[in-house]
Amino acid sequence: MDFLSSIVKTTIPNYLSGLPIPNTFGGWFKLGFTDYLSLIPPTLFTAGAVYTAYVAFCPAAGNSGICRRKIIKRVNNKIRMDEAKVVDMIDIEDISEKAAFCRCWKSKNWPYCDGSHGEHNKECNDNLGPVVVSRKQK
Ligand code: FES
Repeated sequence: MDFLSSIVKTTIPNYLSGLPIPNTFGGWFKLGFTDYLSLIPPTLFTAGAVYTAYVAFCPAAGNSGICRRKIIKRVNNKIRMDEAKVVDMIDIEDISEKAAFCRCWKSKNWPYCDGSHGEHNKECNDNLGPVVVSRKQK
């Protein structure tokens, strides 16, 4: 514990007080090359700490591209909610020519697409769509 205490109470304050941080704005222009070099490590450390805090606590930035934090939400909010896993078995022989299967989980005709993805795409600026299974023409 003495080691940690020494770092926090002595080493870090001594290091910070030794940094060539000027008292005035104009003092930044009077710093030499080695002064700027000595400011690089604490600057990088501070920038990393701020960035890490931003990523960890950023509000729901979603897909803004700035925040990399994944906000994990349920995908299925309406289809057979009482089941642990929604599984559908469809015999390929039962598909006449082609069938469109929902991948957005918004269809009222699950597991088939009913076009509900269009409303979702418009509201969320998304690009969801069905998977279409078709028979080969003989
Ligand atoms: S309704 Fe879900 S993909 Fe079309």
